[in-house]
Amino acid sequence: MDFFHYKEQHLFAEDVSITDIANQYGTPCYVYSRKTLERHYHAFTDAAAGHPHLVCYAVKANSNIAVLNVLARLGAGFDIVSKGELARVLEAKGDPSKVVFSGVAKTADEIAFALSHNIKCFNVESSAELKRISQVATQMNTTARISIRVNPDIDAKTHPYISTGLKENKFGIDIKQAFDVYQLAFALPGIEVVGVDFHIGSQLTEIEPFLAALDKVLALVERLKTAGIQLHHLDIGGGLGVPYDSEKPPHPSAYAAEVKTKLHAYPELELVFEPGRAIAANAGILVTKVEYLKCSQDKHFAIVDAGMNDMLRPSLYQAWQSIIAVSPRDDDTPIHNYDVVGPVCETGDFLGKNRLLAIQEGDLLAQRSAGAYGFTMSSNYNSRPRVAELMVDGDQCYLVRQRESQSSLWQGEHLLP
Ligand code: LLP
Repeated sequence: MDFFHYKEQHLFAEDVSITDIANQYGTPCYVYSRKTLERHYHAFTDAAAGHPHLVCYAVKANSNIAVLNVLARLGAGFDIVSKGELARVLEAKGDPSKVVFSGVAKTADEIAFALSHNIKCFNVESSAELKRISQVATQMNTTARISIRVNPDIDAKTHPYISTGLKENKFGIDIKQAFDVYQLAFALPGIEVVGVDFHIGSQLTEIEPFLAALDKVLALVERLKTAGIQLHHLDIGGGLGVPYDSEKPPHPSAYAAEVKTKLHAYPELELVFEPGRAIAANAGILVTKVEYLKCSQDKHFAIVDAGMNDMLRPSLYQAWQSIIAVSPRDDDTPIHNYDVVGPVCETGDFLGKNRLLAIQEGDLLAQRSAGAYGFTMSSNYNSRPRVAELMVDGDQCYLVRQRESQSSLWQGEHLLP
């Protein structure tokens, strides 16, 4: 559930009118709802209550420092995949001792930066990475806490680009080799083994793949225990889907309840979650203005001022996200079946296809579920400045990232002498 709703035919974020925001800050813009972020975070912590747990929000979903700070204030941990994401967490007053570091290509520099901030854990994705972490930690005269990210070879039944837990995917260590890698970890200097981790994909709408992966990982935990290797935490990754359309993903409470049941025999094992989308997606919308309507006999285009550089998901994954009028018309404007397209010079530049809308030029539209993998995947393609981000908190609206200026487009570029 989120806090975007209509009041007398006008869309509001909490208690602030979207039209007022667009008038003040311009379009396109992302608008986030603090209350929704908080609600979604609590859905996880409430659901996990009764078992030791830590919710490490996946920073890649939405890394605006105001978003991170709202979650940090609630006690959230963070799942990061780069030095830049750790720097953002620190800037947002996040606690590094609650940070887990995922990602397949951690550089020595990134490892050193994370070690200097004494993060909770590195989620190790290969033996080569494990050796590098050991080397860097030894050089720094410190110890790196690690989990092995295992690849359980489970079909997450999601889009192939966001499936990560199949053996043909680049992520994690084949679960069949994991035991040997744990033994290697034990033998290496500068390494403390603390956990196990998996993440099988994103936008999962069924619980079964999570549970199948968990069964395989618990079998590994047992085997390690028998060999005298006692783990302290089990990180089940992120991946819980959201209802973009008619999907019916399990509620965090149902998901966590099933996971907790499986962990009943392991009260000593802290449960770590890495949700990104489930916290942020429905806490944000992308507001855009209709620039032109272009209608031929058999095709209606709504050409809007936001494009694939602002919101890539529809173009990249053929993702469907709801598009609604900010102030639905009750006059005689005809309803047409529109392709809602952007200004970028690519045929694949669209926000949505075949949308029934009654709109006129100048109208505002909102693309829903845009709080995750929206702004963070945006670019300057076609030399388009990245858009403003706003956060609503009750009846207040705060600018949390200003719209980029024209000159910022070539910042850091130089002419030849
Ligand atoms: N943990 C790890 C190690 C991950 O790789 C990811 C996402 C997450 C957690 C968070 O997953 P979530 O709870 O958000 O599903 N750009 C794509 C999604 C890519 C997800 C990559 N990894 C999209 O827009 O659908």
